[in-house]
Amino acid sequence: MLRVAVCVGSACHLRGSGEVIRILQDLISAYGLEDQVNLEGSFCHSRCTGGIVMHIDDELITGVRKDTVFRLFQDKILRRCRP
Ligand code: FES
Repeated sequence: MLRVAVCVGSACHLRGSGEVIRILQDLISAYGLEDQVNLEGSFCHSRCTGGIVMHIDDELITGVRKDTVFRLFQDKILRRCRP
């Protein structure tokens, strides 16, 4: 199970992490990956100035934006679930 954790701390929340989570939920559902991806919110990663911050397993990703999350999904999530 791939673990995807999006920071919902204050700074990332203000940058739109809630919207990023909703977009990822929709994509995971649309591609039928519910059994392969565990999407969750996480607390502050102490990288607030680089937000939105997320983890995909042990990989830390900074600077996530709602307009780039689809590309991130394709490259980092879909590719790992459907190599
Ligand atoms: S609020 Fe997201 S890294 Fe601090």
